[in-house]
Amino acid sequence: MRVTMIGTGYVGLVSGACFADFGHDVVCVDKDESKIAKLEAGEIPIFEPGLEGLVAENVKAGRLSFSRDLAASTPNADAVFIAVGTPSRRGDGFADLSYVYKAAEEIAEVMDGYTVIVNKSTVPVGTGQEVEDIIRKARPDAEFSVVSNPEFLREGAAINDFKHPDRVVVGVEDERAVKVMREIYRPLFLNETPIVFTNRATSELIKYAANAFLATKITFINEMADLCEKVGANVQEVARGIGLDGRIGGKFLHAGPGYGGSCFPKDTLALVRTAQSSGAPARIVETVVEINDSRKKRMADRVIAACGGSIEGKTIAVLGLTFKPNTDDMRDSPSLDIVPALQKAGAKVRAFDPAGMKEAEALMSDIDYTEGPYQTLEGADAVVIITEWDEFRALDLERVKSLLKAPIMVDLRNIYRPAEMAEAGIQYYSIGRPS
Ligand code: UDX
Repeated sequence: MRVTMIGTGYVGLVSGACFADFGHDVVCVDKDESKIAKLEAGEIPIFEPGLEGLVAENVKAGRLSFSRDLAASTPNADAVFIAVGTPSRRGDGFADLSYVYKAAEEIAEVMDGYTVIVNKSTVPVGTGQEVEDIIRKARPDAEFSVVSNPEFLREGAAINDFKHPDRVVVGVEDERAVKVMREIYRPLFLNETPIVFTNRATSELIKYAANAFLATKITFINEMADLCEKVGANVQEVARGIGLDGRIGGKFLHAGPGYGGSCFPKDTLALVRTAQSSGAPARIVETVVEINDSRKKRMADRVIAACGGSIEGKTIAVLGLTFKPNTDDMRDSPSLDIVPALQKAGAKVRAFDPAGMKEAEALMSDIDYTEGPYQTLEGADAVVIITEWDEFRALDLERVKSLLKAPIMVDLRNIYRPAEMAEAGIQYYSIGRPS
């Protein structure tokens, strides 16, 4: 199959490289000339384990290429994927669809012969129809189908998620497009991956419903963690105790500082807005959004309380800035609420993150960045773990204690056991567990 992928952001690049690895001929197109030049030189603009090698192998095999020129890449394509950004529109939280619509107009100009246009960007219900209308208006006689095919990739595990998905969702309105989509995902059919064929609107909603449900699960366990702290229970054991019930499942039940990232905050908000404007308000999701926002804002208070009520003039060591490990992505990371709140309360912040410091520098000011976890701790009055990078999981606790001015650790990810901290003589505060 010949595939054109519009957009070389996170989703476009991972999907393009994986489709090429399935054996398809893929051209990834982006308007950003410098991005294309970098990709052609083998530089990967995002941090994703395994992606660089996968891109290099498929470029070498002649299955994957990059281009600025949609017109040259699209004729003869069996499918053109739209994988452009749909950021939250400023002010109202609706998804901004201008990039998707622009891509549709451009495809209409250049497509040739029967083409399946596949929307991989996360778009509200009805967008597929809108894309079809745009193309139909520009090319009344063209033969094409518009399909919805949402992505469920987690940053840091995206290649595995693409190649071994729990399911693939495809929203189609005609049999001809079903055949093309079946052929594109053939390697997964052979692996017996469930492929959910449904109509376009349902497919569009599945994406939002999945993310909103997962965000709800996290928010639920975060509230249970707060309750555990009040009643002397342990949230990890609560999560295990309920997660072993097959109807609930144990995943996405890690209590923490609140969810962040490029998807959950944006998609929950977009679902809330769509539901409101459709006259079917999603009240549970509305509450989840509200609770998560206020939770992230309240996390700095835990550090202040651990330091005896004031951090004025103190130095706080921060380990981890990205919204989760194995990414350099800072979008909606809890650190963006926590660090400024610590600074506002009068503390100096010293921080280390294995991949996110460059991104963080553009978003926050007055942070003293260091070269490793131990250097961050030197002379600090307390340490707070915001992101659970592997390299923070097995710190030498004696060294931690000797480097800190006061042995105080606030662990917002529960990566240590209270008992080992007590043994090491560190005052340890975690989430939803008795100290
Ligand atoms: C998510 C979805 O998982 C993915 O299917 C979708 O396509 C895009 O959004 P991603 O944003 O990469 O992926 O990260 P994910 O691993 O889902 O984590 C999202 C946020 O939830 C992170 O801030 C993470 O720390 C938090 N989280 C996750 C928890 O606090 N507890 C959990 O148990 C799981």
